[in-house]
Amino acid sequence: MPEYKIAPSILSADFARLGEEVETVLSAGADWVHFDVMDNRYVPNLTIGPMVCQALREHGIEAPIDVHLMVEPVDDMIRMFADAGANYITFHPEASRHPDRSLQLIRSLGCKAGLALNPASSLDAAKYVMDKLDMILLMSVNPGFGGQKFIPSTLAKLREARRMIDASGFDIRLEIDGGVNRDNIADIAAAGADTFVAGSAIFGTADYAEAIGALRSSLG
Ligand code: DX5
Ligand code: ZN
Repeated sequence: MPEYKIAPSILSADFARLGEEVETVLSAGADWVHFDVMDNRYVPNLTIGPMVCQALREHGIEAPIDVHLMVEPVDDMIRMFADAGANYITFHPEASRHPDRSLQLIRSLGCKAGLALNPASSLDAAKYVMDKLDMILLMSVNPGFGGQKFIPSTLAKLREARRMIDASGFDIRLEIDGGVNRDNIADIAAAGADTFVAGSAIFGTADYAEAIGALRSSLG
C-alpha cells in the first residue's frame, strides 16, 4: 500500500486563528499543511504569502508545509517560500515562462518540486520533466476557491498519471486537490493518488480528528 498523506488545505481554516487551527489539525492526525497561495492574477482570489508561512514556522509548526502556488510569475515566490520554510513548492506550468528552470530552482533551494495541472490541462506538461519532479498535483476543481465539487473526469487522468509515474521509475508523489471527501477518497486512491488535499471536508466540520479519521479509514 502506498504511504498515504493527508494534507488539510488551510484555505478553509479560520484565518483569524491560523496558528491555532494548524496546531489543532496536526494534532488531529494531519500529515502535511497544504498552503494555498493566490494572487488575484493567476486565479481570481487573494490569500496568503511567505510571511504567513514564516509565521507558522516561528509559531513552532514543524510539519511539512506543502505550498501550492497559484500565482504568476512564480520564480520570486519560489525563492521567498523556500526562505520561509516551505518543504514542497508546486506551481502551475503555464504560470512560468520556463517551467523546467523553475523546477530546477525549487530543488536548488533545497525544496521538493511539484507541478500542478488544472482540470483541462494535459499531462504532457510533466512528460519531459519527470526527472525534476517530486510531485504531480492534479486539480480536481478549477483553482481559486475551496468548497467546490470534485470533477469526475479527474479519475481517468489520475490513472494515466499513475501509469506515467510508475513507468518513469522516479519517486514522484501524486497529489489530488479539490473536492476530496470521505465519500470519494477511496475511488481517488484506487485511481492512483497517494496524497490528498482536503479543505472543507476537514475545516468545515466541528471535529477535525473525526474528519481525518473518516478520510483515513476510507483509504482502508
Ligand atoms: C483550490 C485549492 C484547494 C482547495 C481545496 O484552488 O487549491 O487546495 O482549497 O479545498 P476543498 O477541499 O474544499 O475543495
Ligand atoms: Zn491547493
